[in-house]
Amino acid sequence: MGYDSTFSQRLEVRDLTIGVIGLGYVGLPTALGFLDVGFRVRGVDVTSRVIDALRAGGNPGDDPQHDDQIPQSQSDSWQVSTDSSELVPDCDVILVTVPTPVTETRLPDLTYVSSAGTAVFSSIAKGSGTIVVLESTVYPGVTREVWGPLLDAAGLVEGEDVHLAYCPERFVPGDSEHGVRQVPRVVGSSDEIIGSNLADLYDTLTSGGVTYVGALEVAEAAKVVENVQRDLNIALVNELARIFPVLGIDVEQVLDAAATKWNFHRYRPGVGVGGHCIPVDPYYLIEKAKESGAPVELITSARKVNRSMPRNVALDVSVILERNEVPMSSANVLLLGWSYKPGIGDPRETPAEPLAEALVEMGCNVQTFDPLVDDRLFPSELATLVRSESEISSFDIAILVTAHDEVLEMDWGALAEKANHSLLYDGRRVLDVERLESLGWDVYLLGAPI
Ligand SMILES: NC(=O)c1ccc[n+]([C@@H]2O[C@H](COP(=O)([O-])OP(=O)(O)OC[C@H]3O[C@@H](n4cnc5c(N)ncnc54)[C@H](O)[C@@H]3O)[C@@H](O)[C@H]2O)c1
Repeated sequence: MGYDSTFSQRLEVRDLTIGVIGLGYVGLPTALGFLDVGFRVRGVDVTSRVIDALRAGGNPGDDPQHDDQIPQSQSDSWQVSTDSSELVPDCDVILVTVPTPVTETRLPDLTYVSSAGTAVFSSIAKGSGTIVVLESTVYPGVTREVWGPLLDAAGLVEGEDVHLAYCPERFVPGDSEHGVRQVPRVVGSSDEIIGSNLADLYDTLTSGGVTYVGALEVAEAAKVVENVQRDLNIALVNELARIFPVLGIDVEQVLDAAATKWNFHRYRPGVGVGGHCIPVDPYYLIEKAKESGAPVELITSARKVNRSMPRNVALDVSVILERNEVPMSSANVLLLGWSYKPGIGDPRETPAEPLAEALVEMGCNVQTFDPLVDDRLFPSELATLVRSESEISSFDIAILVTAHDEVLEMDWGALAEKANHSLLYDGRRVLDVERLESLGWDVYLLGAPI
């Protein structure tokens, strides 16, 4: 592997300036991490709320881990701005961590990658040799397809003025064992020396190890495949959770039994998958495969199965309510948890939303108890949100959607007293059924016969 002594020497003494474009869930901990290991950091975000909060020494995000890490003032080591042209010219390495969502019709939305590229490249000086790394999740080919023409338009030559690379982020929000400082990373770049330099750089950030994997497209593909695999595995158990109740069997008993075999992978069925990654990233590969004429049936079906889960739960609930003579058209439903996963406030792509939509379409009123969810992103036109157990008003059925500790450790006895019918549906298979039954609840389980 090649060796760049200048970069290595500067890395050794932390004499490098790292730019981070997009200071959200991924970018902010990355910027703070590189600052912590001793580099100069320049952070850019187009959202003024984010930059105003950071300039005031405050945390713009919802992860309390960062509360004490944000510098209280700007300095040579730490500067943030909404304007790339102020900070990009200082940077030796630029990491782009902007969103890569899908459109309403579930097509890749690369507008953020494109606008960040335009802003960055227009501020890079010719001959600077700046390394620009895309970290956002994409399909194989995006970095070159989207940024190649932008480089040309800016009059920059790849390999001379700018070096392109890709290093996907793999951290898990809310999981302190898999944060940006712990996860193993892969780096792709057509230039081995750049790949090796970046591997050394990221190695200062994470204890998980960094592997240079060769072509940029290999690293791009690896990231999307990691999330496709999770989506597929979850879709399988979700489909089984629909088959076995029809046969009079509880899917969890089947999975427990199967998991006694050494090579069985145990996944748990649930109301659906959420977040910015698993329900989104597969569409990137699906679209690219379709466009290239390659078959993509299995991945497409897995998405369909997981997307159908919230509506299936709504249908289960309608059966339970009918059996208990509660008209669906006037039922009050309590959702326990709204965030897409336990322990965090992020509601992006949460299955709670399509579940609430299906229930509202069927005529129900929906109230939600979630002490963590970011209320700026809560759809108040769809459901009401309460933050504390004492605010919960009477309801006909409760559905456990997100297994926050605050939900699992509720005063279930007191909650049963507020219930008109003490009906409880465990959409995550995490509740102690015997204990709840002893408190008067009538418990139904996703994946078990109703
Ligand atoms: N959140 C996760 O858990 C996670 C994990 C792994 C990978 N990823 C991937 O990382 C990428 C970023 O995700 P995120 O969750 O951090 O998104 P986010 O929405 O939390 O943050 C993105 C930030 O980028 C800013 N931004 C948008 N366009 C910009 C531009 N042109 N210039 C500067 N700033 C801009 C936004 O204002 C926002 O603050 C996505 O591709 C995502 O798929 C996310």
